[in-house]
Amino acid sequence: MSALLSVKGLVAGYGGVPIIEGINLDVQDHEISVIIGPNGAGKSTLLKTIFALTARSEGGIDFAGKDITGLKTAELVPLGISMVPQSRNVFPTLTVDENLDVGTYAAPPKDKEAVRESVLALFPDLRDKLGQPAGELSGGQRQMVAMGRALMSEPKLLLLDEPTAGLSPAYLEIIFDLLLDIRKRGVTILMVEQNAKQALRIADNGHVLVSGKNFISGAGEALLNDDAVRRSFLGGAAA
Ligand SMILES: Nc1ncnc2c1ncn2[C@@H]1O[C@H](COP(=O)(O)OP(=O)(O)OP(=O)(O)O)[C@@H](O)[C@H]1O
Ligand SMILES: [Mg+2]
Repeated sequence: MSALLSVKGLVAGYGGVPIIEGINLDVQDHEISVIIGPNGAGKSTLLKTIFALTARSEGGIDFAGKDITGLKTAELVPLGISMVPQSRNVFPTLTVDENLDVGTYAAPPKDKEAVRESVLALFPDLRDKLGQPAGELSGGQRQMVAMGRALMSEPKLLLLDEPTAGLSPAYLEIIFDLLLDIRKRGVTILMVEQNAKQALRIADNGHVLVSGKNFISGAGEALLNDDAVRRSFLGGAAA
């Protein structure tokens, strides 16, 4: 089976300085794939480059059997890619409902109301908050708005950059459960996550990124049990 997303020899950075240096990575259809690695490794840069928010200098990207190298973000959304950035991922002065609506702009769904209903079924906590400015919500609720907005374009692939950053352990569990629900709906997930151990437990596959290079890839379970990965990236303790 060919991968849903295939990243091949990707080089990208800022102002001509490469940050990611030849990344190869495949994401299979219907899987949760997790990218872990130290701060500054280039994890966000990799996601942003896939979503055409950072300039690529070498390498290519295939998605759903199509070469998407060089396409713009606005062209990627209608093809079925959506992203939730690491921070500032809601429009704070817009209401929750308006934030969700923004998610339909780049790829208007055929039946917007049905998509909105299915998103609210996933995040029932948001129902009472629809008229409230997103900036007034808690961190966890804002993360739900951001994920809901990204799902409004009915993506095949959801790119998530640290969806649990700054959240309490209880909320972390809630978000990870939601990711499993989202996958059940047929959405493939490629996410960056600092809570590496918990993320690898729910992930099908994991990729450890170090200094802009892919240090190791493997099944989530295998990485949890890999001595080098455990020592260097999971705090040493047994999984
Ligand atoms: N917009 C930018 N302009 C210039 N350099 C940047 C920009 N964004 C990131 N960088 C640099 O690229 C490198 C990788 O950053 P990136 O945000 O991809 O790392 P990361 O792995 O996501 O880190 P973290 O775990 O802290 O989120 C860092 O050295 C950073 O300073
Ligand atoms: Mg980052």
